Amino acid sequence: MDISNCKHLRFFGLHSKSLACKCVALVIIALVLRAVFLPTFYTLGGIGNKNLFAFDNGLSMLNREFSIEKTKFLEVPQIIWGLNNQKIAFARACLTARMLNRTLLMPSLSASLFYKEVDLLQPISFNKVFQFEKFNSLCKGFVQLARYSEVSNGSDVFKLQKGSGRRWTVERDLDQLRQFRNNPYDEYEIVQIVGKNPFLWHDHWPVKDYARVFECLVWVQEISREADKIVSKIREFGSKEILKVGLSQNVIDSVPYVSVHMRIEKDWTIHCKKLEQRLNISEICSSKEEIMERVGNIVGLKTPAVIYLAVADTLLEDNSILTGWDEGLLPFEKKKLGVIEIYKKQPYLIQSAIDYEVCLRSDVFVGNSFSTFSSLLVLDRTQKMIKIGARNLCGMEAKWPSYSYNLRGESKGPHPWVTNMSDLNLQAISYGSNHISCELSS
Ligand SMILES: *[C@@H]1O[C@H](CO)[C@@H](O)[C@H](O)[C@H]1NC(C)=O
Ligand SMILES: *[C@@H]1O[C@H](CO)[C@@H](O)[C@H](O)[C@H]1NC(C)=O
Ligand SMILES: *[C@@H]1O[C@H](CO)[C@@H](O)[C@H](O)[C@H]1NC(C)=O
Ligand SMILES: *[C@@H]1O[C@H](CO)[C@@H](O)[C@H](O)[C@H]1NC(C)=O
Repeated sequence: MDISNCKHLRFFGLHSKSLACKCVALVIIALVLRAVFLPTFYTLGGIGNKNLFAFDNGLSMLNREFSIEKTKFLEVPQIIWGLNNQKIAFARACLTARMLNRTLLMPSLSASLFYKEVDLLQPISFNKVFQFEKFNSLCKGFVQLARYSEVSNGSDVFKLQKGSGRRWTVERDLDQLRQFRNNPYDEYEIVQIVGKNPFLWHDHWPVKDYARVFECLVWVQEISREADKIVSKIREFGSKEILKVGLSQNVIDSVPYVSVHMRIEKDWTIHCKKLEQRLNISEICSSKEEIMERVGNIVGLKTPAVIYLAVADTLLEDNSILTGWDEGLLPFEKKKLGVIEIYKKQPYLIQSAIDYEVCLRSDVFVGNSFSTFSSLLVLDRTQKMIKIGARNLCGMEAKWPSYSYNLRGESKGPHPWVTNMSDLNLQAISYGSNHISCELSS
């Protein structure tokens, strides 16, 4: 039995060295012999069973041999910035670990929105935001997370310095990762990546791989319960308003709501004007009036409809975002819903998570195609529709339609938006992009 046979065996996840290889070879020989002699054994009755028993023993010996092989880990720096940048960074860390055949040590996320003040960076453990065991069970066979308590020798570490700057190209980054799959680096119990935030690492993976990681991220109950409260408030307030308009009870039982991720705060406006200049595109920034007009013109949207405004905190003081909507659109934000107190108690990351969840569950979502928050939401909604086998993914025919208000669609409405799940990298669909896949009919 030569090495090339062992390579085939690796295909089954068996990458132990020579002893294991011999073991496997023995089992295969046993299997072949068994296949040859089986008819004879059967004619002898009970002996066939005994043989089967011996074979099982062989297998469990094999298992023991493999479980002795120590798990190898990847450690990454604390993950920072906005919720969705953190999700991308986390997925990138997972996919790096997968590439290195390693288990990712549960990273720290950041509870505060970090810009420059390093001392304001509030680390928050991954499992305070997402369910740890759930993640591992949903992502089994793809990527896995481990706790630091699983490390047996904390000093068996190799520090991997990621390159940066213009000369550090995607190809060089990929070469480095490939190198780290091999000897001697593969021997270390921990490979620790030092350097910049994983969000800024090069992107080597297709959208599908990211989506595979995202779908394993399930909020802890505290977060989904807060979102439940807001969603039921939206429906409750919506039905009251709709009653005033004089509709019958059966309409009220299923009040639809449209969530609008309204990015009009000062920081964003400055950022997006710069982006428009740099990219020479005029379709990134939308004014409050433009957003209101486009949402009012969504083709096929039944009114009255409740509008949930997902806005930055600073805008909650600005009552003008609640006025100027078309008749039949009933706008709410957290203040008007009376949930601002519960919400304000939470750190930034959790607030953002709650808003994300409320938008995810909405009947219709309208966002900005240049926002990471909006883009990951649309990816999530697209994936949900694909999962149930939906055929229509664009426009009001879709089960969970999404739109981009910064791009013009039909009848002065927003452009229908769906994620292209076959895209070759995440950047193409998630930030700095107006690729939104849906075609306009006509
Ligand atoms: C832990 O790892 C270090 C560095 O590889 C090594 O020198 C040391 O012997 C290891 N300790 C144990 C208990 O394995
Ligand atoms: C990692 O796993 C893949 C697939 O299972 C395998 O092809 C590769 O050789 C493994 N690499 C190392 C260094 O063990
Ligand atoms: C910007 O785009 C416009 C049309 O979209 C084009 O006419 C113009 O030359 C572009 N300017 C630069 C600097 O690329
Ligand atoms: C989706 O992305 C793939 C890969 O980039 C591309 O070939 C395809 O045309 C895209 N589909 C749509 C509808 O944009």
